[in-house]
Amino acid sequence: MAEFNAPKGIPDYYPPASREFVGVRSKLLRAADRAGYSPIELPLFEETGLFARGVGESTDVVSKEMYTFADRGGRSVTLRPEGTAGVMRAVIEHGLDRGPLPVKLVYAGAFFRYERPQAGRYRQLQQVGIEAIGTDDPALDAEVIAVADEGFRDIGLTGFRLDLTSLGDSNCRPAYRERLTAYLDGLDLDDATKERARLNPLRVLDDKRPAMQALLADAPLMMDHLCDACREHFDRVRAVLDALQVPYTLNPRMVRGLDYYTRTTFEFVHPGLGAQSGIGGGGRYDGLMAELGGQSLSGIGFGLGVDRTLLAAQAEGLSVGSESRCDVYGVPIGPEASARLAVLAGQLRRADIRTDLAYGGRALKTAMKAADTSGARIALVLGDREIEDGTVMVRDLISGEQNPCRQTDVVAVVQAMLSAGGREPTG
Ligand code: HAM
Repeated sequence: MAEFNAPKGIPDYYPPASREFVGVRSKLLRAADRAGYSPIELPLFEETGLFARGVGESTDVVSKEMYTFADRGGRSVTLRPEGTAGVMRAVIEHGLDRGPLPVKLVYAGAFFRYERPQAGRYRQLQQVGIEAIGTDDPALDAEVIAVADEGFRDIGLTGFRLDLTSLGDSNCRPAYRERLTAYLDGLDLDDATKERARLNPLRVLDDKRPAMQALLADAPLMMDHLCDACREHFDRVRAVLDALQVPYTLNPRMVRGLDYYTRTTFEFVHPGLGAQSGIGGGGRYDGLMAELGGQSLSGIGFGLGVDRTLLAAQAEGLSVGSESRCDVYGVPIGPEASARLAVLAGQLRRADIRTDLAYGGRALKTAMKAADTSGARIALVLGDREIEDGTVMVRDLISGEQNPCRQTDVVAVVQAMLSAGGREPTG
């Protein structure tokens, strides 16, 4: 047993699985890049008040799960539990909302929540997120959802579903909330549920216990009490999603874990993952910018869980990203050959060909074995004879065929062999 272990509930990703992790993340990022989102890099921790105000004091995330501590200057800071509040803080602070709208941003990174660890639920989780701020066009809602859908499909995932609802806005939600509270007051609820209802009655609808589901069967639903503007917005989002052929299921009982949501709200669910089946989620947050001291602009975005998307890909038997770590593996016989091959490796790498070498004067047989396990397609073998006549032996590791090639031609020869053999994408 190692003397030190990773902190509880935090996954390490190491080879070969780390290639799959990076493959998943880059597919999700690529989908956002294709839709015109620009990268934003933000601090891993912020003033605690930002999350308390932005995410909402009544949420589990803020009340139970934050990594909050005083820094050496006595300021209360918190490791970011999610990305939207920090993005909004930066947009306001740097006046990005005074340029062309919408401001479209994408980020990837680690977030921290002190949750009870279990399969697919970690204390350090990784997300790819996008935020589109400053336009309440329903076509933008559909774009955000379609970017997530395409990211998942690029990975090859097919077994997920998209749940969609509208949570209304500051115009229609207060009246609905009163109606729901009156309904809940008429039920015989246990104390813990009463407390949840007091903090946020909408959360009670998400109670998974069968007895509660039966009790709540006739509860009023937000979707049936939308004001005309919210209803029209939602209808238009759905019409664009239909035109884009993004399939979805209406789920009027969906409850998200963060308080800032308004109107369009969604979650991607992968039933192959057991209890932690949410692979991504998001929605509108039209009051957030004003709540954080900015002007009153709308926004919409998502956070996709990279850890869980990787688990979903594994559950579907998919392989994402390159399995091999190099395409060419150099095997030198003797110190002079080692120096010569180092030069050839440099030329290949500059030509964007992934190249590794055997080091430490290993015997030919051991070095050829290392070439095989590296996943390379081609081995370059260089010994005294090749040094003498300025060649290198080029061995196709799949067919076993080998031919000498002039050292000056090695980049062109390797390039030709790799493109003929359909080199797998490096992801
Ligand atoms: P969220 O639903 O809290 O939303 O998180 C987004 C995704 O992160 C989840 O669907 C899940 O895949 C992943 N995730 C969350 N917690 C964990 C965990 N403990 N372990 C593993 N994966 C986890 C947000 O964070 C919002 N900021 C998304 C958003 C952006 N809404 C609007 N813009």
